Amino acid sequence: MQHLPSNNGLRRLTEVTRKRYNRIAPLYDWMEALIERSRFQAWRSLLWSQVSSGRILEIGVGTGKNMPFYPSNSTVIAVDLSERMLVRAAQRAQELPHHICLCGMDAQFLAFPDNTFDTAVATFVFCSVPDPILGLREVARVVKPGGDIWLLEHVRVDKPIIGPVMDVLNPFVVRVVGANINRRTVENVRRAGLEIVEVRNLSGELVKLIHARPPNTLAS
Ligand SMILES: C[S@@+](CC[C@H](N)C(=O)[O-])C[C@H]1O[C@@H](n2cnc3c(N)ncnc32)[C@H](O)[C@@H]1O
Repeated sequence: MQHLPSNNGLRRLTEVTRKRYNRIAPLYDWMEALIERSRFQAWRSLLWSQVSSGRILEIGVGTGKNMPFYPSNSTVIAVDLSERMLVRAAQRAQELPHHICLCGMDAQFLAFPDNTFDTAVATFVFCSVPDPILGLREVARVVKPGGDIWLLEHVRVDKPIIGPVMDVLNPFVVRVVGANINRRTVENVRRAGLEIVEVRNLSGELVKLIHARPPNTLAS
């Protein structure tokens, strides 16, 4: 059975995560520049090509790397835990024609009513949300029945040697860059009760594009 942190434990872990990303924020784009150009941009483009306009929520917007891919004429509400990541995202938003509203918010406790959005998107976020199942349930709550949830995530590779190596390295990686490298995010999506429409492998089994919907809406 999964161990969920107590409220105090969750608050502490969330604060640690916020501070980590505040620390990383000035270096974040620079740290990922090479892989962003060689891989991530193509994957972001693939994800966003499936998203039509409407009310869109981006969770964990970071420095706003998805912004150039937002559908034209869309209204996007983009949230993040780290205020320093949001500062950079605000600079990017100013250079773009989209209507983007940025908010400091915890994905685990979204301040939106049920069924607010047509689509929610998160890229490389549920590797660092302290309680990913709580966060995914929140996403499902705020997306309208029949709406779309798109996740781009690196996950634990469930193979002998590589999986256990990821487990051993994880505590160090998470301290330095904020991301857990051994999250079982597809499993977490299911455990949060979302309906999985499709999971696509983008880089062996390491990076997945996950299309999901809020519970019980596949038939609608
Ligand atoms: C690895 S970065 C990814 C940023 C961006 N999505 C991208 O693709 O470049 C993870 C982001 O998730 C944010 N994050 C982590 N936990 C969060 C939470 N509980 N609520 C909201 N944002 C969170 C971090 O602050 C950080 O900006």
